[in-house]
Amino acid sequence: DKGNHKHFMAKEIGEQPMVLGQAIDHYLSKDGKSVNMPGNGLDFTKINRLTMVACGTAYYACLTAKYWFEQIAGIPVEVDVASEFRYREPPITDGTVALFVSQSGETADTLAALRYCAGKADSIVSVVNVPESSIARESDLALPILAGAEIGVASTKAFTCQLTVLLMLALKAAEDRGALSADALAQHLSDLRGIPGLINQAMGAEAHIKDVAQKLSEARDILFLGRGRMFPLALEGALKLKEISYIHAEAYASGELKHGPIALIDKHVPVVVMAPHDELFDKSISNMQEVMARAGKVLLITDSAGLKEGAEGTWQTIQMPQVSPVLSPILYAVPAQLLAYYTAIAKGTDVDQPRNLAKSVTVE
Ligand code: M6R
Repeated sequence: DKGNHKHFMAKEIGEQPMVLGQAIDHYLSKDGKSVNMPGNGLDFTKINRLTMVACGTAYYACLTAKYWFEQIAGIPVEVDVASEFRYREPPITDGTVALFVSQSGETADTLAALRYCAGKADSIVSVVNVPESSIARESDLALPILAGAEIGVASTKAFTCQLTVLLMLALKAAEDRGALSADALAQHLSDLRGIPGLINQAMGAEAHIKDVAQKLSEARDILFLGRGRMFPLALEGALKLKEISYIHAEAYASGELKHGPIALIDKHVPVVVMAPHDELFDKSISNMQEVMARAGKVLLITDSAGLKEGAEGTWQTIQMPQVSPVLSPILYAVPAQLLAYYTAIAKGTDVDQPRNLAKSVTVE
């Protein structure tokens, strides 16, 4: 049931404050100061490496989580797309935890990658939306993301719920390994509890994003740029856009721009720059200026501090509320989703059932 929404995708984007709130509560301790994970299966003090494997949007959730596990918990992380991982047959060394992320829990390549790791990795963990799925059943520890049924082929609320659970797992790992003080952990968790409210605030930009999307829908090619934690989100923004609007979109780490993609820039190519005012903001802005110097049309998505410093010369801007830098990928997923949604609406495509795509890819 779509309720009073035109599409499941719109309904699912709108549900995010509620389902994220539920996911956070589920994994939060009673006093709100630490993370509870089901089972005692995971001893993070013994882990040398985390190998994360997934497909599509779930893969981008893993790429984002790599920043969290490495920067907050100090655990080296490898991330791979399942179809590559399973046939490369990489060595699984001692102390490796293998983690699989899948909304459906039935993606054929991800399941095959899990089966390859069974018996080799210290433990098999999955982050899934469907608790009775094959991937959940074959894991030592299955962590539900509690997003509720996701019907739209373009994944939205499952992505932000995956990010939330992965961040909480990274915080738990950091606590177990003594990488985070109790105060710092409590601060991260209190920031995270603010996320549903910030997403509600971000939705306030919906009407403006719709206008921007109308203009974006005239483009043939669109680039997405991001740095640090925002790089995987740029990839996700480009995937979402191409899936439902059929506009060609590519994402690059901002720093890669001058190593090739800058050759594509001219006045016809909009460049979406996702850059909260964080520790890498100045770098993102200088990449943005390189684009503008070549007549590229920049759509800057940032916060009020970012707009103050970086809006000059841009084509369009979208303002997001201020957020703790660690959490920015969760919040900035929302404008990426809304941009894709309204661009598809402007093009008149079938938003919930895009051509050639299936919700669950159970064959390789
Ligand atoms: O069910 P899964 O999370 O394993 O699915 C993985 C991908 O097929 C999925 O994320 C796909 O990329 C979506 N259509 C993205 O919107």
